[in-house]
Amino acid sequence: MKGLDSKKVIITGAASGIGRATAERFYAEGSELVLIDMPTLEESELASLFPERMTYIQANVTNKDDLAKIDTEMKKGFDILINNAGITRDATIAKMTDDMWDQVIAVNLTAVWKLSQMAAVVLKEQGRGGAILNAASVVAHYGNFGQSNYVATKAGVIGMTKTLAKELGKTGIRVNAIAPGFIGTPMVRKMPEKVITMMEEKSPLKRMGEPEEIAAAYAFLASDDAKFISGTCLNVDGALVIG
Ligand SMILES: NC(=O)c1ccc[n+]([C@@H]2O[C@H](COP(=O)([O-])OP(=O)(O)OC[C@H]3O[C@@H](n4cnc5c(N)ncnc54)[C@H](O)[C@@H]3O)[C@@H](O)[C@H]2O)c1
Repeated sequence: MKGLDSKKVIITGAASGIGRATAERFYAEGSELVLIDMPTLEESELASLFPERMTYIQANVTNKDDLAKIDTEMKKGFDILINNAGITRDATIAKMTDDMWDQVIAVNLTAVWKLSQMAAVVLKEQGRGGAILNAASVVAHYGNFGQSNYVATKAGVIGMTKTLAKELGKTGIRVNAIAPGFIGTPMVRKMPEKVITMMEEKSPLKRMGEPEEIAAAYAFLASDDAKFISGTCLNVDGALVIG
């Protein structure tokens, strides 16, 4: 993809699933990586995947001290932020606890806002544009049983993406989101087999997506090939949501 070989990309939730596949894609494109996740570097196994051009920050994106570490790294200069880290804590509204609600809001929404705010300050000061990419989900479009917390965050991320695209556009910073469909990552594979089969049946392409297929969309939206695209939410979902 055009321009990625000269860029530094920060990816949250990079130790697993879509985040890891996205790191692999940007590495293959020649980008310099700053990877963020909660395990130690050894536990994450990222060092062997990325022997060079990689900095790892062990951080919880909801923790103030950890955010300060990320801010220090951002101030060294970067071009692309991918707010990928996300969690689920599913229960119907009758059974959902305040804790389940708060945890999901903290990771999937507040941390995305906070990191975007930190990124915007640095990118503006650098004066060479940049890209912020956020993880939404198709469930933001149609709701999902047992996920009132998760769906609220993903719908919130889409609204935030559109707003930041308007606020930051004049500085050349583009802000976009991706709404993945059902993608074969640890988050999804822990669901019952029956549910997975049902989801595959619902998809016009009759299969789950691969993490690499989301990574490819992040790479496109971050690249110079997408330099006139901002404020959009791209569904990458095998036609699950049409229209
Ligand atoms: N897999 C799907 O089908 C699917 C569909 C739609 C949206 N998404 C979104 O894509 C993103 C990635 O999903 P995935 O399926 O790869 O998930 P995953 O569970 O495989 O990976 C998520 C990563 O985020 C990290 N993480 C969680 N909380 C964190 C925190 N507080 N601080 C730092 N890191 C943290 C985890 O340690 C993990 O490595 C999420 O935002 C998810 O909501 C996934």
